[in-house]
Amino acid sequence: MIEHQPTARWIAVEDFLSGVVVHPDSSLQRAVTTALEAGLPPIEVTPNAGKLLKLLVQLSGARRVLEIGTLAGFSTIWMAQGLPDGGKLVTCEFLPQHADVARANVDDAGLGHKVEIRVGAALDTLQALQDEGAEPFDFVFIDADKENDAQYLDWSIRLGRPGTTVVMDNVVWEGAVLDPALDTVNAPGIISALQMMGEDPRLDATVIQTVGSKGWDGFALALVR
Ligand code: DHB
Ligand code: MG
Repeated sequence: MIEHQPTARWIAVEDFLSGVVVHPDSSLQRAVTTALEAGLPPIEVTPNAGKLLKLLVQLSGARRVLEIGTLAGFSTIWMAQGLPDGGKLVTCEFLPQHADVARANVDDAGLGHKVEIRVGAALDTLQALQDEGAEPFDFVFIDADKENDAQYLDWSIRLGRPGTTVVMDNVVWEGAVLDPALDTVNAPGIISALQMMGEDPRLDATVIQTVGSKGWDGFALALVR
């Protein structure tokens, strides 16, 4: 795992922006607290990134969202808050303990009717969704184990449609994309996914670098052609 090194000023600015602009509601604030209390790692997206996800769901007019990597459901709640009535979000979580915390957080946010949490290896769940003939997803957020990022991206295209939006978290990883020796487990997977973003004719993509409480990182935004 990479060592994140946020500076005090990055964190202070993030807190300022979150308080002045983003306004996470009480259910989102509680989701962070319950996750910490349950001993989950504090690696959820920042509030400003969560709000971006919500806005992207709304801007894209998505009715069906797929999330790969639930953790405690923080990004899940943000995205589900952007869904219209009748919208649906399917989220994949490997660990049952995380899924239990997420379920409680999503229910507490009043979004239980919109969110389905599937427990198990995401690659198995994605295959199952295809086997079940799931309707195409309009929006996909990839934020799970980085080794499989390129496979998750491929599944996003296969379970999506032309026009599907894909967001991938953690694509700069403290600069380890330039120096995979910094994290030989995760960096190669991230680099493969970025190469695919740039080369796969089914995708049009960009990457935004970020700094803040989660250190130096970034997210990719892709459109399925
Ligand atoms: C970490 C951060 C993430 O956003 C994530 O998805 C996984 C791990 C981390 O800081 O280690
Ligand atoms: Mg992440």
